Amino acid sequence: MSAAGTRKAGIRDLTDAQLRGRRALVRVDFNVPLDAQRHVTDDTRIRAAIPTIQLLLSRGARVILMSHLGRPKGQPDPTYSLEPVAARLGELIPQKVVFVASTDTPEAVAASRALGPSEVLLLENTRFLAGEETNDPQVARKLAALGDVFVNDAFGSAHRAHASTEGVARVVHPAVAGLLMEQELAYLGGALRNPVRPFIAILGGAKISGKIDVIRQLLPQVDGMLIGGAMACTFYEAMGLGVGTSLVEPDRVELARTLVAEAGARLTLPHDALVAPSLDAAGAARAHAVPRDKIPADEAMYDIGPRTSESYARAIGIAKTIVWNGPMGVFETPPFDAGTRAIAEAMAEATARGATTIVGGGDSAAAVVQAGLASRMSHVSTGGGASLEFLEGKPLPGVAALDDAPAAA
Ligand code: 3PG
Repeated sequence: MSAAGTRKAGIRDLTDAQLRGRRALVRVDFNVPLDAQRHVTDDTRIRAAIPTIQLLLSRGARVILMSHLGRPKGQPDPTYSLEPVAARLGELIPQKVVFVASTDTPEAVAASRALGPSEVLLLENTRFLAGEETNDPQVARKLAALGDVFVNDAFGSAHRAHASTEGVARVVHPAVAGLLMEQELAYLGGALRNPVRPFIAILGGAKISGKIDVIRQLLPQVDGMLIGGAMACTFYEAMGLGVGTSLVEPDRVELARTLVAEAGARLTLPHDALVAPSLDAAGAARAHAVPRDKIPADEAMYDIGPRTSESYARAIGIAKTIVWNGPMGVFETPPFDAGTRAIAEAMAEATARGATTIVGGGDSAAAVVQAGLASRMSHVSTGGGASLEFLEGKPLPGVAALDDAPAAA
């Protein structure tokens, strides 16, 4: 489904004749973290693309994968080579993974034509191409020469109108969604269109500025919105509470005041805060919880407090649809991970009793993985920016460019 609700074509809409022996050019989002030795440290996004790869192979297609990695500046940069990702994919699937160190070259086209039935091809980083991010039609046409069918499974990049996401879908037909893309759109779209109620949203993160559009979009639809993270402090400031040395966005205080007034009882701010003089080890050792109107002048809020964790967990406990985006505190630094962890645990329990639990990508997804609870959510999105833009109600160019599904007979 698209954000607007029109169903987009998927692999299952393709006939055998469209796939057997044909080259399926698949845009995946293999933008994964690597360590200093260039080993993949979180392969969630690679694993998430495997069902699409295997479905295409089982239907006789030859699979050519392309992705970006990081933000190279439109020219080759070995730091951002996808070669280590090819190695990791090779460990995860039984097929041989062939890597080509270029993207839209005659060499890449030749490799796409030479692929054997039990091989998969991964091309070099699409952002090594100067026209990728400007969505240059010429680049899109060159990429199009790599496939007879285009499959977009890169939900995490669907908010980017780039040559490998949007442009190429206008050239190669059929152009359809992969299984991961369909799953992401079904969960996120389902929550927006037809949520089982009570429907609550939990929004965290450091800044209101990054979340304004999603707050505005979701407020009229939810039964409750629970706020966490440092952005709570901008709301506190708007309410006339002292926030000590906490992060505040002075230019958003007025907006926060408007949102509080508009939302009424549907918007809940943390009742208490975990504060400390600083985030370093000495500061963290002095962390303590205070009511929200007692934040000391020389300390900052780094997490929601325990009373808030309990009351948010209770709200999650009675909700039937829960969408969560953004951590409740500085979850990378204990003890400021407690609030985020409490939300993750309450959501895992909610899933077990039949609620639909959806975690937006980015930091909240990382926190759920860190807590070992990812498999206990209904859906953990692989897209940070993409899931946020989708929840904001914005069209995703990578989805909009795909073919509409055939009309039901
Ligand atoms: C992401 O990690 O959110 C996607 O891969 C998109 O990456 P980008 O923000 O560099 O476009």
